Amino acid sequence: MILKVSKSTMLNGDIYISGSKNAALPSICAALLTNKKVVLENIPNIVDVNNLLLIIKKLGVRVKRIDDKVIIKATKLKTKVLNDLVETLRGSYYLMGVILSRKNKIKIKYPGGCNIGNRPIDYHLKAIEELGYKVIQEDNIINIIEEKRISKNITFPKISLGATINILLLTSTYKDEVIITNPSLEPEVLCVIEMLKQMGVEIDIVDKKIRVKGKKKLSGITYKIIYDRIEAGSYLFLAGAIQNSKVYIHNAPINELNTVLVVARKMGIIVYKEKDKLVVEGNNRIKRLNLQIGEYPFFPTDLQQIITVVLTKAKKSSVIEDPIFPNRIHHIDELKKMNAYIYTNDGTINIKPCILNPGIVVATDLRCAFALVVAGAIASGTTYIKDIDYLFRGYDDPIKKLRYIGVNVELL
Ligand code: EPU
Repeated sequence: MILKVSKSTMLNGDIYISGSKNAALPSICAALLTNKKVVLENIPNIVDVNNLLLIIKKLGVRVKRIDDKVIIKATKLKTKVLNDLVETLRGSYYLMGVILSRKNKIKIKYPGGCNIGNRPIDYHLKAIEELGYKVIQEDNIINIIEEKRISKNITFPKISLGATINILLLTSTYKDEVIITNPSLEPEVLCVIEMLKQMGVEIDIVDKKIRVKGKKKLSGITYKIIYDRIEAGSYLFLAGAIQNSKVYIHNAPINELNTVLVVARKMGIIVYKEKDKLVVEGNNRIKRLNLQIGEYPFFPTDLQQIITVVLTKAKKSSVIEDPIFPNRIHHIDELKKMNAYIYTNDGTINIKPCILNPGIVVATDLRCAFALVVAGAIASGTTYIKDIDYLFRGYDDPIKKLRYIGVNVELL
């Protein structure tokens, strides 16, 4: 699919943020830990979630979707996850944790996900081995068999959101305590922890370590997941980059966006809270930044590509360091086609001031797709974004939301 984006002025109106993609994927998998009914609320209508629901249906799980509600009953749960869809999304790795939690083996295709550099899953597999499993990797298939479950403490060499959640899912049915050292404590992890606690798992966080004491049989629950802070941040920077815009962002998880708001204000974007909404006023005079990306509560890597576009408008050069995904830089080649002057060096992105021209560009991943929409909206003329399909993997109803606030977009 191609998206035509024309220069957009004075964005105005309301954006309603959907449920978080990176919380929805593990929550759907967590629902498979029990054979009781689980009702999940606030589940976004995005391709990654819909593909995960198709994968679990093929595993024999009963799934029903009513608007943003998903009802899941995993009375049956097959252990062979060989559907090609597994390779289309990263979140399919959570099926390892849940299936091993309930069964003694799994055969699964290697998870896919956005092309944002090397994305190994060695922390997941090493921790699974330490917890009593044998892991055999052949081509793109991972075969895991239980040897003897051992409640061993796990220490991650580096903070990983996916590995932390996967080990939480796996140990949720372990009877002895497991302590996870150096875990991710991103809001999405806390959302899954709250869900697991409501299902009956004992979990607490002490000194930045997670203590899990599982339970063999977990309860069915109704659970509302958190709103998507990255979607909120994406629309915030879009509106903030366009002069005279005034956009009201509803359902934004304001507390979780604290660093994002501090950074936006440093750039000259006016952003404030009005009752339960976030109000963003655009500014043409964007200020330069030195930005360090990091795990929560630092500025999120998932907004790097979008803020890069906005910083091209500053009068002086900016520098961004992203040690989490230093190769999340495919958007830069595309922006260069639009006259951007950006260069990278070992995880450091240097952004020079420039006026973006319209162009024909290609989306290479989810956040790159949104970043190119922002670029197209601020460049004079009309930009064509090929492979815009990526946008639908993680943004709920983006065309309608963009149009509603006045961004000139048309799907061709
Ligand atoms: N890492 C390893 N080995 C592992 C796991 C991670 O070396 O086994 C490294 C990664 O290469 C990276 C760092 O650890 O340098 C952190 O990766 P993490 O595991 O936290 O990332 P992830 O689980 O693959 C999730 C989100 C990403 C988000 C990151 C960081 C999902 C499905 N994906 O990925 O979301 O950027 O955490 O917060 O939850 C996005 O939404 O655009 C997106 C890419």
